[in-house]
Amino acid sequence: MRTDFQSWVAARQSRFEDVLRGLLPRAEIIPQRLHEAMRYAVLDGGKRVRPLLAFAAGELTGADANRVNIAAAAVELIHAYSLVHDDMPCMDDDVLRRGKPTCHVQYDEATALLVGDSLQTLAFQLLAEHRLSDDAQRQLEMIRLLAAATGSRGMAGGQAIDLASIGKSLALPELEFMHIHKTGALIRAAVLLGAQCGSVSPGQQDKLDRFGKLIGLAFQVVDDVLDCEADTATLGKTAGKDADNGKPTYVSLLGLQDAREMAGRLHREALETLAEFGDSALRLRELADFIVLRKF
Ligand code: IPE
Ligand code: IPE
Ligand code: MG
Ligand code: MG
Ligand code: MG
Repeated sequence: MRTDFQSWVAARQSRFEDVLRGLLPRAEIIPQRLHEAMRYAVLDGGKRVRPLLAFAAGELTGADANRVNIAAAAVELIHAYSLVHDDMPCMDDDVLRRGKPTCHVQYDEATALLVGDSLQTLAFQLLAEHRLSDDAQRQLEMIRLLAAATGSRGMAGGQAIDLASIGKSLALPELEFMHIHKTGALIRAAVLLGAQCGSVSPGQQDKLDRFGKLIGLAFQVVDDVLDCEADTATLGKTAGKDADNGKPTYVSLLGLQDAREMAGRLHREALETLAEFGDSALRLRELADFIVLRKF
């Protein structure tokens, strides 16, 4: 009998925490303060949604769990880096993240900058050091995929648009473009990298690609809704920050109700792309439900 979703998540989160602990440089190693701050930014916090997506996609394609651990860690390190930089005074200027003081508050700005740099390069070092696929060409493609999702045509590009949009009201397609890049790209990469650790047919790859895009956009629509709807204690980050910072969001453009409906639409479309996988996509479906229905 299959375990329920909660148990599936808890088991993977706990195993993944150990994986991250082992992959990050130990805090005793020089330069200690940087390594301590890297561990601070990555460990003991976060929903680990991207790694969970990678695990679920990997289970669907029969991937070796040790390989998926590395792919998931690379994605989560990039994500943690993006949060450290996102919170800095030159970006969203936030003091709380994952229920703790943000990295630049706990340490200092220069350290936070270097934490981001070091997490990003560690992610790619892992992908280069560990075998993720029996096919070397496929492995190179995976590294390329994560780089593209992270850089100026992916997450970093989306962040640039986010900052350039402060105080402006974007049209819906522009807002969608921003969200697809700043958040959707890395979520899509998590799904695809997890799947590519196993054997995935071109047809499956197309479906999973579409699923990743839809659920990645839905994730940020829900993040916008929660910023407005939830409280700081539940979120572990400052609620109401988007309105304070003059950020265009799905809520500022459409209002809460329509933003929620938009997330619901993306959710349904994402589930449709998984129809042909049957039972093997159960965890991906459950994660899609979690992403849209979550309260934090
Ligand atoms: C927050 O991501 C930043 C966005 C991309 C919206 P998460 O909501 O996944 O943050 P953690 O990892 O759970 O803290
Ligand atoms: C974050 O968007 C996107 C990235 C970190 C790449 P937000 O700025 O909305 O994320 P939160 O709300 O601070 O987590
Ligand atoms: Mg931001
Ligand atoms: Mg932010
Ligand atoms: Mg947000």
